[in-house]
Amino acid sequence: MPDTRRDFLGLAALWSMAGALGVALAGMLRLPKPAVLPGPMRVFKLGDPAQYAVGATVKMDAENLYLFRDEKGFYAISSVCTHLGCIVSHSEQEGFACPCHGSKFSTDGTVTGGPAPTGLAWLEMSLSPDGQLQVNAESEVQRGTRFPV
Ligand code: FES
Repeated sequence: MPDTRRDFLGLAALWSMAGALGVALAGMLRLPKPAVLPGPMRVFKLGDPAQYAVGATVKMDAENLYLFRDEKGFYAISSVCTHLGCIVSHSEQEGFACPCHGSKFSTDGTVTGGPAPTGLAWLEMSLSPDGQLQVNAESEVQRGTRFPV
């Protein structure tokens, strides 16, 4: 009887060790693969620049930005709040407001109140090879930068 118990405990220890080694080996094999996969490119085509009148403000829901055109050119401001990522609303007079925790931003995206740590991002704009207005949501430009067309 004691031999059986000793054999059982020995086998249990052996199987536990084999299991631990298997899990460690599986973890090691997984290491060379990237843990975070690259996301899709965030360059958005916004169509023919001529379709936007001077003075236009357009909320682009799918792209999470506001597109503006004034007499100096185009600019795009991210609609993603810099606090925790809620989508801000816009009013011509009061600027931007976040519904989640009350951050406020001036009309150029500068923080004027609430917990947001930084202003809203101004996004790089350009023309695509086929003549469409495009925004690169991965690239910020200095606040106040216009894209003249
Ligand atoms: Fe905008 Fe918190 S996410 S204030």
